[in-house]
Amino acid sequence: MTSPSTTLSLVDTDPAELAVDAIVIGVHSQTGDQAATSGFAGSLLLASGAESIAAAFDGKLTETLALLGATGGPGEVIKLATLGTITAPIVAAVGLGPEPTGAAPAPETLRRAAGAAVRALAGAPRVALTLPLPDDADAPAALRAVAEGALLGGYRFAGYKTKPQPTRREPVAEVLVAVPDAADATAGAEITRAQAVAGAVRLCRDWVNTAPNELRPPSFADAVAAAARDAGLGVEVLDEEALRAGGYGGIIAVGQGSEAPPRLVKLTYTPEAGGNGKRVALVGKGITFDTGGVSIKPAQGMWEMKSDMGGAAAVGAAMLAIAALKPSVAVTGYLPMAENMPSGTAYRPGDVITMYSGKKVEVLNTDAEGRMVLADGIARACEDGTDYLFETSTLTGGQVIALGKRIAGVMGTPELCERVKVVGESVGEPAWPMPLPDDVRKGMDSDVADISQVNAVMDRAGHMLQGGVFLREFVAEGVDWAHIDIAGPSYHSGEATGYWTKGGTGVPVRTLVQLVEDVAANG
Ligand code: BES
Ligand code: MN
Ligand code: ZN
Repeated sequence: MTSPSTTLSLVDTDPAELAVDAIVIGVHSQTGDQAATSGFAGSLLLASGAESIAAAFDGKLTETLALLGATGGPGEVIKLATLGTITAPIVAAVGLGPEPTGAAPAPETLRRAAGAAVRALAGAPRVALTLPLPDDADAPAALRAVAEGALLGGYRFAGYKTKPQPTRREPVAEVLVAVPDAADATAGAEITRAQAVAGAVRLCRDWVNTAPNELRPPSFADAVAAAARDAGLGVEVLDEEALRAGGYGGIIAVGQGSEAPPRLVKLTYTPEAGGNGKRVALVGKGITFDTGGVSIKPAQGMWEMKSDMGGAAAVGAAMLAIAALKPSVAVTGYLPMAENMPSGTAYRPGDVITMYSGKKVEVLNTDAEGRMVLADGIARACEDGTDYLFETSTLTGGQVIALGKRIAGVMGTPELCERVKVVGESVGEPAWPMPLPDDVRKGMDSDVADISQVNAVMDRAGHMLQGGVFLREFVAEGVDWAHIDIAGPSYHSGEATGYWTKGGTGVPVRTLVQLVEDVAANG
């Protein structure tokens, strides 16, 4: 089930003469002082890019938008019928917030604005964006942000409705982005990159949004493997027999309660001429549905646990973008997949599991299943050899309690955590470093095995950190690693906002891709 697609191209002709269904312009909200001197238009200020449109309206554009209630606040979209003043029948003014002094709007402001505008214009097949782009060294980043925002705001999951929806407007099919020179090679490269990256994010969202009866480990593995083969990646899929024979105790334990058996998908990207000699491993949690198992979850909201494979979806999608972008570094993706079900064959609290690394783990709560499958994925990645290991997972409700629905928690080697934070910030996927305290590790000492899966006594204390501390046990000496807990940011249950639509967000695909490019460029 794939969502309808959106195409993107550059245009450098006069926006007032573009034959499109709608033109998007940016508007800033003004500070009190600016508003006091600008008369009727009140608090509104046109952003650059909209000059020829404003001229066609005889200087009345801001005034009219203000009359219609525009304030320039972030996310606001006000539509205006142009009644022949310009070629396009609609102008849509998207709010950018206050104009930053002496600078163009931040890339994330543009990304959200482009997303909000394209979302609000559903029903218009062809849309042009004339948003304020800097004309200096920041231009590529701004253009990238606009392009990504447009493609992601234009996303809609195909869904399963059997009847046509007459009141539902189709997502924008074609977006033109106005730039000073449409033939500019740097600008063209940014569009190509944005298409690859946003395509990956959209596919990640599709996988997350797919109903859990339609995406169980075997079919998820097949879907990832098929897409990866098409992209030219190396693909290896371990089925339940190979996993059992190989000693992947954590993946087998979690998967054994389901009649849909577990999988481990390995994807390999090999750079030309060996790249820069560095190796990156990406590991993602692929629980296609998390009931909690025998330690069953409450019914309310359990349906959202269809998104518990968001980490694996992000890793799979990022690998596809990497195959397209061809960075000069070797990258391997590991996607352990299982369905966590309660049944007569399910693993149980009290079980002691021999993991792929050989360590023995005492299970105390079958709902802490993510760390079980990830431990095996991480151990395998380290055995294959890697310099940097990024692992991402919808691991703990504690992440949501600590950092909310937008900011991921990061644990691991301090320098790499810092790198995730910086890169996450730069792409609009914030992530915050968290500690791995000794006392949290101590609380996970097991009476009978090498380590407990969770703290038996103070089960909620340092909840998110327990996940990080547990996973650390399976990372080989000398490997720089970061665990990115995306329980909150991977799934958006509220109304659409900016370029986030309801459901899967595609976080942290863009962070993973940017991290790989960063390692390719800087080692
Ligand atoms: N998949 C959940 C974590 C989760 C919670 C993701 C909410 C997204 C939203 C994970 O497998 C889980 O159940 N974690 C438990 C851990 C506990 C049993 C130690 C949790 O968060 O309560
Ligand atoms: Mn769970
Ligand atoms: Zn889970």
